[in-house]
Amino acid sequence: MQTTSTMIAPLLEARNLRKTFPAPGGAFAMGARARVAAVDDVSLELAAGETLAIVGESGSGKTTLARMLLRLIEPDSGELRVEGRDFLAASGAGLRALRREMQMVFQDPFASLDPRMRVGTIVGEPLDIHEPRLGRLERRDRVTEILRAVGMGEDALTRYPHEFSGGQRQRIGIARALVLRPRLVVADEPVSALDVSVGAQILELLQNLQRDFSLTYLLISHSLPVVAQLATRIAVMQGGRIVETGAAEQILTAPTHPYTQSLIAAIPVLPVNIE
Ligand SMILES: Nc1ncnc2c1ncn2[C@@H]1O[C@H](COP(=O)(O)OP(=O)(O)OP(=O)(O)O)[C@@H](O)[C@H]1O
Ligand SMILES: [Mg+2]
Repeated sequence: MQTTSTMIAPLLEARNLRKTFPAPGGAFAMGARARVAAVDDVSLELAAGETLAIVGESGSGKTTLARMLLRLIEPDSGELRVEGRDFLAASGAGLRALRREMQMVFQDPFASLDPRMRVGTIVGEPLDIHEPRLGRLERRDRVTEILRAVGMGEDALTRYPHEFSGGQRQRIGIARALVLRPRLVVADEPVSALDVSVGAQILELLQNLQRDFSLTYLLISHSLPVVAQLATRIAVMQGGRIVETGAAEQILTAPTHPYTQSLIAAIPVLPVNIE
């Protein structure tokens, strides 16, 4: 087995990540507040261009893992590398540079967009933070361009989130995530708040954007049909651990772990969409 130093480093690499929270209900053990592990010894690698889906039931630790991978929360222990560079040790300008490469699309397009801000401001805000020297016209061009890429017209710029449908709001959220041209997008239940048909359009959009912008996806979903549409690889989480991981086709058609088998058995009809 070769070491990573002699191969192309993965875009993102996590080793033995662990995150605990205080146990609910104020339980005490041995005099100290008991803690529960939301993510327990998780290791994974994300290669450029792939879509890794994380599936698992509610509370299995998917969101906690995603937030740690983006360093939105700090792990208790473990390692995190971006293209071989130590992400947990990064700070200042180095950390900001790594951060702009990794963006998040949120579950709830109603809650994640500031209702008092115009769409142009919402989508352009990451530019204000990361490219403050951008001229006004240039900034407007960048925002308009990314809105167009997600299927929204220029007229959206001066309007407010409440003037749009759920699917349109999710498009706006995706535009905001993509305006800095990140390499990695983490989408946490991106369609679970939407009607099935609207969700299917958003999944198709994500697929097209991946091709057009050479994106790498980490897709989080409790829904295997959603995962089947996009994933190249699937990791199954249960109780904070990854219990099974493999190529999407293998996991969906020949799962080996009993928990994965139960997830698959729970789907009425699996719209498998893999070549
Ligand atoms: N900030 C927090 N404080 C305390 N406990 C937390 C916190 N965030 C998450 N947890 C706990 O960690 C565990 C994993 O939660 P997490 O939100 O990561 O699960 P999930 O797989 O994303 O679930 P869902 O599918 O419902 O979104 C749960 O038991 C949860 O209660
Ligand atoms: Mg979650």
